[in-house]
Amino acid sequence: MKQLVVAIDGPAGAGKSTVAQIAAEKLGYTYIDTGAMYRGVAWKALQQGGKVTDARILDVVRDIDIILRYEGGRTTVTVDGTDVTGLIRTPEISHIVSQVARLGPVREKMVALQRKMAEQGAVLMDGRDIATNVLPNADVKIYLTASIEERARRRCKELQEKGHEVSLAEIQADIAARDKADMEREISPLVRADDAVLLDTTGMSIETVVSKILEMCR
Ligand code: DC
Repeated sequence: MKQLVVAIDGPAGAGKSTVAQIAAEKLGYTYIDTGAMYRGVAWKALQQGGKVTDARILDVVRDIDIILRYEGGRTTVTVDGTDVTGLIRTPEISHIVSQVARLGPVREKMVALQRKMAEQGAVLMDGRDIATNVLPNADVKIYLTASIEERARRRCKELQEKGHEVSLAEIQADIAARDKADMEREISPLVRADDAVLLDTTGMSIETVVSKILEMCR
């Protein structure tokens, strides 16, 4: 069977990484979580303490060594040799990551790494600009979304299960702010590619979404 390049884009909390990981495992493909890379940059910018300014982000990204590995069905992210996998999905990082992702030099560096990772094919990459910018020649393009209420509920549950004290209202406000920032930024905003299949997962189970993705790949 042909080794496909699959691009999945969509807003925060749409379930991209959950379903993409399962689909990648079933297809025997590599899963590439591009949001984790922007989160890794945000983590490094936060390390210095104090206010995170654009100048600081541009400074830390200049010599950042960011490595994304997908092994045994699990993604690990290292930043300058530190494994940050468990440290990048916090409300604090979610809060500043859109600021990081709107800067041109950050995106140029991440996109170059992402294209390199997809060179061999047999990859399923998720993010915001994969079908429109990173891999415009992808074989399968999917735009995954869900209502903001459902996305906030999913994110809230995920964070609470990890022990974070968060409220639904707070998460929903953060997601709405992130949607706006990601969709309205100047460089590579989140937009559905003309040739992407729209998949609204509101009220759908994970299994249903995964089987729809697998259908599109077969
Ligand atoms: O998918 P996520 O929530 O982990 O993504 C974190 C942030 O990174 C998100 O707010 C937007 C940004 N992002 C991006 O701009 N381009 C991508 N390809 C992936 C993520």
